[in-house]
Amino acid sequence: MASQNPFADPLRFDRRVPECALVIFGANGDLTKRKLLPALYRLAYERRLPDSFAIIGNSRTPMTDEAFREKMHESVKEFLEDSPFDEELWSNFARNIFYVAGDLNDAKLYADLKKKLDELNRPNVLYYLSTQPSYYGPVVEAIGAAGLGRSTEKGWHRVVIEKPFGHDLDSARALNARVHSVFPEEAVYRIDHYLGKETVQNIIAFRFGNGIFEPLWNRRYVNHVQITAAESIGVEGRGAYYQEAGALRDMIQNHLLQVMATVAMEPPAVFEPDAMRDERAKLLRSVKIMGPEEVHLHSVAGQYRGFREEKGVDPQSQTNTFAAATFFVDNWRWAGVPFYIRTGKKLPKRTTDIAIQFNSAPHTLFSSEDGRAPRPNLLILRIQPEEGISLRFLSKYPGAGMRLRPVSMDFNYGSSFGERSPSAYETLLMDVMIGDATLYTRQDMVEASWKAVTPILDDWSQRVFDFPNYDPGTWGPAESDAMLARNGHKWRNG
Ligand code: BG6
Repeated sequence: MASQNPFADPLRFDRRVPECALVIFGANGDLTKRKLLPALYRLAYERRLPDSFAIIGNSRTPMTDEAFREKMHESVKEFLEDSPFDEELWSNFARNIFYVAGDLNDAKLYADLKKKLDELNRPNVLYYLSTQPSYYGPVVEAIGAAGLGRSTEKGWHRVVIEKPFGHDLDSARALNARVHSVFPEEAVYRIDHYLGKETVQNIIAFRFGNGIFEPLWNRRYVNHVQITAAESIGVEGRGAYYQEAGALRDMIQNHLLQVMATVAMEPPAVFEPDAMRDERAKLLRSVKIMGPEEVHLHSVAGQYRGFREEKGVDPQSQTNTFAAATFFVDNWRWAGVPFYIRTGKKLPKRTTDIAIQFNSAPHTLFSSEDGRAPRPNLLILRIQPEEGISLRFLSKYPGAGMRLRPVSMDFNYGSSFGERSPSAYETLLMDVMIGDATLYTRQDMVEASWKAVTPILDDWSQRVFDFPNYDPGTWGPAESDAMLARNGHKWRNG
């Protein structure tokens, strides 16, 4: 049925947010000013928010409503990226922006919030936790203790929790128990902004909206998959957080395993939030858990030269700023196919893509132009900053004889649609407020992805690495190439 295809459901794009108040904890932080407020402004610009939409910012810094509005005004103008800024629209939007100062550990803050929420009297309330992760548990409990967590007859109360959800499997479980003591699972939205990216959602459209790729999407045709999320920047003033997290926790446990699940999951029977999430969860549960003796073969840690000199970083730091791992999926579709994932800071450029390398043609009739064995087909799903899809195949080189050369067929979002793509936060904020959890992470997925990385975390926490081991502007340590070379593979450094 056509209506089961998400991208054929026009209602998904026409929906509007119901009357609602959004409380942002951590409103003085980077995420609020760079991502959340610009995304909310943009939703207002598109008339998706009701005029009464209210925002209450909280942080410790004392500030008047006016001062907070002014700060957000500057941030939105600065970080809006690809949209026009309309002063008139802003002044209407800003009338319903408020600020409540207070310490997250202080019960008075929650009493003040209650007062403000009662005064505003919006039927639905969304709490957004963009604080330091150690506050997630205490804030949720304090919301509960103040009687602010329960949905009422008038409307829903939901909570968005930023990543990282826990520091390891046990802490993720413990946090979950605390969150569930106040909010039922259907009110908990664990955000992973990668899933909100248009190009990541397009993986679903590409796989399940087309008839010709899915039959090839398995171990019979796919040789291996490479998922790369490279950043050219360093830790940019987040040294203190990053020093505790490291690349494996910061990017692989959440964003990249979710991307892998989207690439590798089975087709859901219907496009409904839980059907989609069930498939992603099932895939994550099928990731083969490495034995302790396999960790050395299947993972690589790196740290760029200069990281130890960054602000907030221990001069002896053992934190990884580069992480690569080989995962296998234990199911009929993928048994034996390596999924290589790598991510790092201070790599040569910012690029995120997924390269699906197919098996070579079973019998080679031709040699390539340079006399080497012909290159196999490669499908590249480009997530960012280029957005599109390329398919590499072989073509006859013009002239006498039969010489082959790889060429590529490209789809590019910008030139094909000529439309602006909404930011991940626009999509995800809209989704939580209309109650669509498709692109949010469920607790079982969080646990499954922690399980997948636990052997690596355990091993790395015992090791003393010879860090730093890569220069800024390179593709990470040499061991990363060696990890693939053991299987006769090579990273695509395009
Ligand atoms: C965040 C990480 O979740 O994602 C950052 O904490 C990283 O370290 C960022 O830089 C990357 O996001 P994007 O959307 O720029 O690829």
